[in-house]
Amino acid sequence: MGQASIPCRVAYVAAHNCCYTVSHLFTPFTFQAPAGPLTLPNRIVIAPMCQYASQEGQANDWHLAHWAQLLNSGAGMLTLEATAVSPEARITPGCLGLWDDVTAAALKDILQRARRLAPPMPVCIQLAHAGRKASSEVPWRGGQLIPLEAGGWQTWGPSALPHLPQEAAPKALSLEGIAKVRSDFAEAARRSAEIGIDAIELHAAHGYLLHQFLSPLANQRQDAYGGSFENRIRLTLEVFDDVRRSFGGTLGVRISGTDWVDGGWSIDESAELARHLKDRGAQFVHISSGGVSPLQKIALGPEYQVPLAKAVRERSGLATFAVGLITDAQQAEGVLARGDADLVALARAFLYNPRWGWSAAAALKGQVQAHPPYWRCLPKEAGPIFGPDARIGMR
Ligand SMILES: Cc1cc2nc3c(=O)[nH]c(=O)nc-3n(C[C@H](O)[C@H](O)[C@H](O)COP(=O)(O)O)c2cc1C
Repeated sequence: MGQASIPCRVAYVAAHNCCYTVSHLFTPFTFQAPAGPLTLPNRIVIAPMCQYASQEGQANDWHLAHWAQLLNSGAGMLTLEATAVSPEARITPGCLGLWDDVTAAALKDILQRARRLAPPMPVCIQLAHAGRKASSEVPWRGGQLIPLEAGGWQTWGPSALPHLPQEAAPKALSLEGIAKVRSDFAEAARRSAEIGIDAIELHAAHGYLLHQFLSPLANQRQDAYGGSFENRIRLTLEVFDDVRRSFGGTLGVRISGTDWVDGGWSIDESAELARHLKDRGAQFVHISSGGVSPLQKIALGPEYQVPLAKAVRERSGLATFAVGLITDAQQAEGVLARGDADLVALARAFLYNPRWGWSAAAALKGQVQAHPPYWRCLPKEAGPIFGPDARIGMR
């Protein structure tokens, strides 16, 4: 783990002209990856959020505007949306991809331009394969499976079991198909390194392909990839090892802590998987939940997934992100102060308020970086959140 427990520190900061306790949220965090350490200035992670705005998997002006504003948010790290490792791995026709030189060039160009418009911030990419949940309409067109005859594409899963009973079943991946999935992840990871990505999060949550292999609800294979816990986690661990070989930077995995269905993937299995990932050199695990079955029963509410993160963190010792309905700064601070997680990730709150990190810094007397043209914006109650050097003058 990077900086496991977070002692409260008393600091003197000239700009504030006072002594105060540095918040947990604004205490830096360092991941120790094989290629070197990666330090986040604070423990706020922007969670991955699909934009469904790409054509042929390519990043474009939408991503430029979106990433530029999130890079100006004061967060500690930006996670780019679920990025498909092959065309058939996309959830929707609008999903971002990183499967060839064309998609890599588009992503590199747009990310470089967005980064030039903001202070430095580590960037993580979520690499993903949608499996049987691929070939879907974008959410604002209903999000349902697009049949082959309506322009959809063949979907793949561990077993020929549909996500919804009325849907066409995916094809069960053969061993050759599994080998291709593994090499697609490894190639996308190699490209990630080439285009300047700092960290990779493998998407093994929300009912997508790797989660489908983990969960007995979607995986009824009889071979080395199905049945026992060791067999169901095999593909995730193989993908992890393949990606590790082609990417030396910070590497972690997002999992669903539970399927919220009796007989499904459980929190005990999540903690055990996290232990395996830690042994293999993972830097973090990101605990979400659900997504593999329409039978799930989720008790939604503030911080509803935090107990899952706490359990995984305690039992695995791996640096853990908590996510899900964490919406305000004091709440995020509480999650870290209680030791329930090492970092907090937020999604919707950053779409609603892309300066969420600034507001949190104002609330907790933290500090964020901002570009000079914005330095004049601070209301008095925010305090000197841009630090003592953010001074302006005019005649
Ligand atoms: C617009 C949108 C897109 C999302 N796309 C992804 C994604 O690409 N990958 C992923 O793992 N989760 C995705 N999620 C889930 C979020 O990362 C997050 O786990 C979830 O929204 C709960 O956090 P929140 O309460 O802070 O929004 C998405 C959520 C939203 C709202």
